[in-house]
Amino acid sequence: MSSPIDQNPTAPPAGPPKTPSAQVVPQFEAVPADRPRRRYAVVGTGHRAGMYIGALTGEHADVGRIVAWCDPNPARIGYYDQQAGPGLPAYTPGDLERMIQEQAVETVIVTSPDVHHAGLVDRALRAGADAVVEKPLTTTAEGCRLITDAVAETGRDVVMTFNYRYAPRNSSLREVIASGRIGTVTSIHFEWVLDTLHGADYFRRWHRDKANSGGLLVHKSSHHFDLVNWWLGDVPQRVYATGGLRFYGDQAAQQRGLGERPDRGTGAGNDPFSLDLREDPRLKALYLDAEHHDGYRRDVDPFAPGVSIEDNMSLLVEYAGGASLTYSLNAHSPWEGYRVTVNGTRGRAELDVVERSHIDLDEQGRAVLDPSATPDDASDDLRPQRDRLLVQTHWARAEEYPIPDGIGGHGGGDAILLKDVFRRDLRIGDDPLGRAAGHLDGVRAVAVGIAANRSLTSRLPVDVADLGLGVDLATGKSV
Ligand SMILES: NC(=O)c1ccc[n+]([C@@H]2O[C@H](COP(=O)([O-])OP(=O)(O)OC[C@H]3O[C@@H](n4cnc5c(N)ncnc54)[C@H](O)[C@@H]3O)[C@@H](O)[C@H]2O)c1
Repeated sequence: MSSPIDQNPTAPPAGPPKTPSAQVVPQFEAVPADRPRRRYAVVGTGHRAGMYIGALTGEHADVGRIVAWCDPNPARIGYYDQQAGPGLPAYTPGDLERMIQEQAVETVIVTSPDVHHAGLVDRALRAGADAVVEKPLTTTAEGCRLITDAVAETGRDVVMTFNYRYAPRNSSLREVIASGRIGTVTSIHFEWVLDTLHGADYFRRWHRDKANSGGLLVHKSSHHFDLVNWWLGDVPQRVYATGGLRFYGDQAAQQRGLGERPDRGTGAGNDPFSLDLREDPRLKALYLDAEHHDGYRRDVDPFAPGVSIEDNMSLLVEYAGGASLTYSLNAHSPWEGYRVTVNGTRGRAELDVVERSHIDLDEQGRAVLDPSATPDDASDDLRPQRDRLLVQTHWARAEEYPIPDGIGGHGGGDAILLKDVFRRDLRIGDDPLGRAAGHLDGVRAVAVGIAANRSLTSRLPVDVADLGLGVDLATGKSV
């Protein structure tokens, strides 16, 4: 269910599916014939919900089914209801507990804006359901406490869907580090660049208000911090951050002399930063045709006033085990991808990923969105789309470590993640990569972003233990 004009270049590529490697795709037992299907409710029926709805009405329909919708916007519910077998009961978030009881919901899938995750998970657990929650787990230390308390008091289950762990290139780096080939890790350098198509999108939507998303250090980087935590098998201890809003937003635009801007992309004409919701039937149905219910605009100009998140961020993070992380995120790059270098006592690993090499403009000066669906970007010789993992030990030449094929979006991670979410009780054997994540992994990931946000304000290093997260990150015990 990915949009043909998805701004995110990690959306599933067009073309024939690749053959996944047995190494990255777990094996599952057949579903026992008489087993009832698990009852799910989708809470937050926007863009991301589509992936879960597609899974439960398609590949995983034999193990689970959607029994109710929950969203404040009836038009977005209606869009999915039509696709999933019309007539499922619909609830507003205020009636979450009633929905769980009336529809005997066993698990809620939380795909609402980030700021609502903690409240919804807390209430769902206390009403007797388990939760599958999208990243970030929450945006604040209070949210972490709410969820850790609810888990401790109810004993219910929270699954964090960290799909990046399932991308084979990221799994391969974990394999290299865990094998001891580069020795004990002493430091990691991690740079992530979002291009002006994908990056700008965070400045058009609810994410542009830090109160909704925690800023990109929570909303986006929690993926990246989770990867580092997982690669190292360690927990963050102290964070220093610097950064600001330097490209998007009205003030940066004025300083660069961008002149008058449209207040929204739809109908704005030829502009590489404008998104016209009418050009994609899915975006039109989910957002433009749903506006009259809640006034939410999905296509605000990224240079319009009201942006309270950063677009350039740099961090220093100390890990409990002694390694350090230098991290940066830029949201207005001409290409998209990331580089990770891991220094160890016996050598070094280097992961290089180009997800989109450049953005083309059409004759009218509008960004051509198609490259997101093009797997082989042969048109760019200098920066071809690729994943490359090099490993080099002392006194030896660099070697390329093979990265197996994945399936689906987010670097081949989404489809494997969905198998693990919906069929995990049928899994044959443990995952040597330890990819399944729970609420504690979610807290560990957002801890870095929450500490970084405090550091941005205080301009001082912040100890994670002082955040009041309600849990010891290393032991998982309540504090
Ligand atoms: N893992 C990934 O790669 C990935 C990708 C995209 C989005 N996400 C996450 O998925 C979540 C949803 O993002 P999206 O892009 O679908 O946003 P969206 O705006 O398209 O959808 C959010 C939906 O939640 C609804 N909503 C608003 N307030 C609510 C409330 N109080 N309770 C329940 N629902 C409410 C909105 O009406 C909307 O339908 C976010 O947490 C985001 O971080 C994750």
